[in-house]
Amino acid sequence: MSNPLPGSPFLAYRDAQLHLEQVRLQDLAQQHGTPLFVYSKAAMLAALAAYQRAFQGRRARIHYAMKANSSLGVLQVFAQAGCGFDIVSLGELQRVLAAGGEASKVIFSGVGKSRAEMQQALQAGIACFNVESEPELDVLSSVAVSCGLVAPVSIRVNPNVDPKTHPYISTGLKGNKFGIAHDRTLQAYQHAASLPGLNVVGIDCHIGSQITTSEPYMDALDRVLDLVEHIEAAGIPIHHLDFGGGLGINYNGDTPPAADALWAQLLARLDARGFGDRQIMIEPGRSLVGNAGVCLTEVQFIKPGEQKNFCIVDAAMNDLPRPAMYEAFHQIVPLHTQAGDSVVYDVVGPVCESGDWLGRDRALQVQAGDLLAVLSAGAYCMSMSSNYNTRGRAAEVLVDGASTHVIRQRETVQDQMRGEHLVK
Ligand code: LLP
Repeated sequence: MSNPLPGSPFLAYRDAQLHLEQVRLQDLAQQHGTPLFVYSKAAMLAALAAYQRAFQGRRARIHYAMKANSSLGVLQVFAQAGCGFDIVSLGELQRVLAAGGEASKVIFSGVGKSRAEMQQALQAGIACFNVESEPELDVLSSVAVSCGLVAPVSIRVNPNVDPKTHPYISTGLKGNKFGIAHDRTLQAYQHAASLPGLNVVGIDCHIGSQITTSEPYMDALDRVLDLVEHIEAAGIPIHHLDFGGGLGINYNGDTPPAADALWAQLLARLDARGFGDRQIMIEPGRSLVGNAGVCLTEVQFIKPGEQKNFCIVDAAMNDLPRPAMYEAFHQIVPLHTQAGDSVVYDVVGPVCESGDWLGRDRALQVQAGDLLAVLSAGAYCMSMSSNYNTRGRAAEVLVDGASTHVIRQRETVQDQMRGEHLVK
């Protein structure tokens, strides 16, 4: 095809049928029902390999930001590939351990960790707490002292860099709730170094998500290194530098830099500024899984309207919340291409909200019963799904070459009602 699909070369039409690796997606939809998430293991490992190439010969560790997709079968792929994990809750730590990951390669991000989460993560022996405020430093130190442990900490700095992405997913600007302001960083480090339950090990930043140019990263890197120079001049050594995640993917002709190209640039700058020997850490999420996954859905009804035609499918905003939340664009393509005229539709789900749309103004040649794939659905879809309208979560299948593995069964209504009680 002249315009390759996001997810290619693992996602491609052969004989007019959409395949992921060697598996015909129509067969999976027929076997497991829809909506169905399907992921390519090879696509995930290829995305990871781009980062691994960049860091060859360096002291570096990749922590998969599992909020992007925290299904156990997905975590297992990254654990087996030697990755660490970036977590934001105790639940995520429990998932890492259940998937065979190591606590000693886990970093814990997030602005609102509870004491119970701090204590259990400390006792599990995680690698680092990425602390986001001065009060959090105090609480973490007191929790550590009360357990007779010392917490390894990095402070998340807010470099005040505009990543030029959707406002809901910018995180490194002054007005965001994340990190410690650039000009308070030195004080925060001095405070951390004075607390008995903390051991300062690093510095971290994360400026946003779906970033498609390298400039915001270069700016953030320079600003973080300026801070490291100040902090070390004050006698506090910084052993690791964590530059977060954020690299974008191709949803609709987006052209983010390749991970290895971006990092070649960043590492050259690190070397030039004399920090090339430091331990590097990163926390990519979307760029490792986003284009490794698709969501298969069946057309329920075609509904011509006065102003718009609607293509009503069986996937909805509870399965794929990104369009409703961020007006995000996901390509929607047929599993089986056919000749014929296309009609422009809004592709919508069955949920009772006007915001329940998956794609607007899409030219499709479809009828009821046809199968479609929503592309670039590996990141922030299943992990953000809900049971709204008492819809069960979709099933998930991992494809590996020609073999397929169900990594999540379709949720039943009994699963959903477990733990609920009538008043006696
Ligand atoms: N590290 C931290 C501290 C983060 O907050 C995030 C994402 C990441 C790493 C991973 O970023 P990534 O490499 O995936 O861009 N739900 C939104 C995305 C929210 C991202 C939040 N933080 C979406 O669907 O676009």
